[in-house]
Amino acid sequence: KRITLDYSKSLNFIGQHEMENLQPAVEMAHKILHNYEGAGKEYTGWLELPHSIDNKLIRDIKNTALDVQNKCDVFIIVGIGGSYLGAKAAIEMLTHHFHNQLASQDRKAPEIYFAGHHISSTYLKQLLDLIEKKEVCINVISKSGTTTEPAIAFRILKRFMENKYGKEGASKRTIATTDKEKGALKELANEEGYKTYVIPDDVGGRYSVLTPVGLLPMAVAGIDVEEILEGAKEALKDTNNPNIKENHCYQYAAIRNILYRKNKTIEMLVGYEPSLQYFGEWWKQLFGESEGKDSKGIFPATGSFSTDLHSMGQYIQQGIRNLFETVIQVEESIEEIVIEAEANDLDGLNYLAGKTMTFVNQKAFEGTTLAHIDGGVPNLIINVPKLTPYYFGYLVYFFEKACGISGYILGVNPFNQPGVEDYKKNMFALLGKKGYEEERKALEERLK
Ligand code: PA5
Repeated sequence: KRITLDYSKSLNFIGQHEMENLQPAVEMAHKILHNYEGAGKEYTGWLELPHSIDNKLIRDIKNTALDVQNKCDVFIIVGIGGSYLGAKAAIEMLTHHFHNQLASQDRKAPEIYFAGHHISSTYLKQLLDLIEKKEVCINVISKSGTTTEPAIAFRILKRFMENKYGKEGASKRTIATTDKEKGALKELANEEGYKTYVIPDDVGGRYSVLTPVGLLPMAVAGIDVEEILEGAKEALKDTNNPNIKENHCYQYAAIRNILYRKNKTIEMLVGYEPSLQYFGEWWKQLFGESEGKDSKGIFPATGSFSTDLHSMGQYIQQGIRNLFETVIQVEESIEEIVIEAEANDLDGLNYLAGKTMTFVNQKAFEGTTLAHIDGGVPNLIINVPKLTPYYFGYLVYFFEKACGISGYILGVNPFNQPGVEDYKKNMFALLGKKGYEEERKALEERLK
């Protein structure tokens, strides 16, 4: 079974010929991406990652994961943006919904928590309270090694670990994933003797899922990382053909550009499984940071259906007609429940007796798709056989490749993120960091 794109529900909005007209642009994007000639070419190491990742590294990651699983009740992943969203997406999609609440003998992995992805003292304090009496290991992840949010969280968690285990004990329970040589985290890791993993120079944060950034947390969570890489390899093969007619990934990239030029400037990635929610968050960063620049780019949004049909459904159906939807439609559920008949049928649901919840979910999807098309919202459907590690790996690579090609068609550098720095500069100035004295004065004046 394969992942496929079905764009037939967009053909009321675009003509087949419009996609074919984009063939030369797609071909050019393919050429400059694969020949490493395009904007941001120094950050396209992700392109070959499914093949280039070293088996020795995979073995090492699996051994570390085993060690963490044996040593700990709790594993904390400290990181933000591209340094946590891929792992979070995989863990949410591929582990039990109530993983952390299961009795420890019912799961082979420790409880998993995230930190350093915001600046909330309440969250961190309550996390510390929760883990106080448990055995803890930490993976701190930062490519630059200087990002404020994870650095603050790690400073506090490091103190907690040293109080609990002593300096040496804490070091043995801490893993740092960072640059091979630069940044404060690398220096700290060297000084403290942490086990370290390297984030390759030529892979940006949002493209780093298939490096130790994503793979170690996934392995600790009990996810088969080799299966993920197999799926990514298959996607690499499938997306290697510059002929748009034979490449679903390039069709997706082209259609979203055609819709964008017709003022469909918001794309909602929607799914009918709650375990897809963080995949959506990862996807939002991927496309938002890659395309939202030079005053252009589709605004990426997400929807978790059918939940959001009861909140955003009205807007999607009848609000401003600048939306299109990309639906991740899962064909087979991990678990199944059959709705049974009731003698008195007080809730009036006997017409569904004998049907599975997946069947009902499927009908919700079909009914919603048709209603939204009638309401003027083009739908692209990505059919996914099942939410397994293999298909997760496939989807990650599929969207990364689509994002690179789509960004080049749009005429932006899809591999930089200059705008992310602006809030940081202001925050550092307002916090009184050395070197930002002039900016501080100017900002405080504006805040008066
Ligand atoms: O994609 C990006 O570049 C950002 O989202 C980063 O991943 C995020 O800011 C975290 O950066 P770092 O890994 O350097 O701490």
